[in-house]
Amino acid sequence: MSTERESWKSRLGFVFAAVGSAVGLANIWKFPYTVGNSGGAAFIILYLAALLLIGLPVFVSEVLIGRAAKSNPRGAMRRLSGSKMWEGMGMMMVITGFIVSAFYSAVAGWIFGYLVEAASGRLSAISSAQEAQDLYSSLMTNPYWGVGFHLLFIGVCMGLLYTGVQHGIERGNKIMMPALIVVLLLLVFKGLTLPGAGEGLRFLLSPDWSQVTGAVVLSALGQSFFTLSVGQGTMITYGSYLDDDANIVSSCVPIALIDTLISIMSTVAVFTIVFSAGLEPTSGPGLLFHTLPLVFGQISGGYIVALLFFLLVVLAAVSSEISAMEPLIAYLMNEKGWTRHHAVLLCAGAAFVLGIPCALSSSLLSQYQIYGMSFLDLMAFVATEILVPVGGLASVVFVGWRWGIKDALKNLRQGSEGLFKRAPWILTYFRYGMCYVAPALVILVFLNGLGLFG
Ligand code: PHE
Repeated sequence: MSTERESWKSRLGFVFAAVGSAVGLANIWKFPYTVGNSGGAAFIILYLAALLLIGLPVFVSEVLIGRAAKSNPRGAMRRLSGSKMWEGMGMMMVITGFIVSAFYSAVAGWIFGYLVEAASGRLSAISSAQEAQDLYSSLMTNPYWGVGFHLLFIGVCMGLLYTGVQHGIERGNKIMMPALIVVLLLLVFKGLTLPGAGEGLRFLLSPDWSQVTGAVVLSALGQSFFTLSVGQGTMITYGSYLDDDANIVSSCVPIALIDTLISIMSTVAVFTIVFSAGLEPTSGPGLLFHTLPLVFGQISGGYIVALLFFLLVVLAAVSSEISAMEPLIAYLMNEKGWTRHHAVLLCAGAAFVLGIPCALSSSLLSQYQIYGMSFLDLMAFVATEILVPVGGLASVVFVGWRWGIKDALKNLRQGSEGLFKRAPWILTYFRYGMCYVAPALVILVFLNGLGLFG
């Protein structure tokens, strides 16, 4: 029953899909609020360093593993190493992607719910901080609202995944990504033309190094991993749909750049909008749910701005969610011989069930804490702070030391011959990045996160 393996229709199809995966809640929500409460430009500089030294080598490693092995993460690790231990690592990545898809959907469901609030006009009718807070509380404590939108969100993603790589993932992203960029440009324009925009830009551009702690460095690393969707099998799986002659480097570098640009543009939009109302973007995760709605009621065209903003976030979240589920789907198809339809049904159904306690973490289950965290926070913590960095580390170490950097770079050269001839330093960058710099830095940051350096 093993039918022909799916692939992208065009190289651009991969680029759109990978950008769709990379651009998500981490860009439009997490990046702005982290910049807001972790030292402004100081955090941006740390993040850029993490991207260059760690994120990009890991990203290229994963796409390369996928392209070379043409299999899901577990099958890919086995095919390139013949080792049970590495096969297990690949399986861990598949499971991590699945865990991410479950909590991500619960959170994206809230945003979906806010999109409906925006459409109904309730968001732009808000006139005080208390009203914004009251609306937030009334929605968040309603279990039907949380679970209902979580289900709706997963349903949309399921529909896209059901139709396959070319028709669902590729075509969906080719529509969603340009739409997202247009909406974002409109919002940046709106933000920059508001009175007080200069204040927002000044905040964004002035680094406050006193805010930078070990935890902030760790979160810059985590951000560079999570935003590129590495460490959880997504990029191995998307890479596996590439042809052998695809130019990996000149696809991946623009993807990382666009992803970063979108983070920065979102921050400009959010900061200028927030400062125009005399507020500050230091409220953390609540930025999206308390601070912004308060602004929508005050600016001209607030209804449209609110609608566009939440539409932007939902689009970004859908294209990321489908990419978090795809590794498990590919695994079930490649290793277990399932049809795509069965694999999608199981994966979406299971992600829905696992996501329910997350969706209920601020309503029915708000009393329950595990290690002082809600179920949602615990799952997000275990996945993004532990499993994802371990998965990303495994990918570069695999390429650098198990598969072997010589063979790996030979493979990377395929499709990129011209580029490497013109710029041989790129190979040197990847050789040192994959073998030494990225592994060493991830381990250091990780040990620091565990408190080993006091
Ligand atoms: N990169 C996505 C974001 O920025 C998150 C994601 C991670 C999606 C892993 C898929 C897989 O929000």
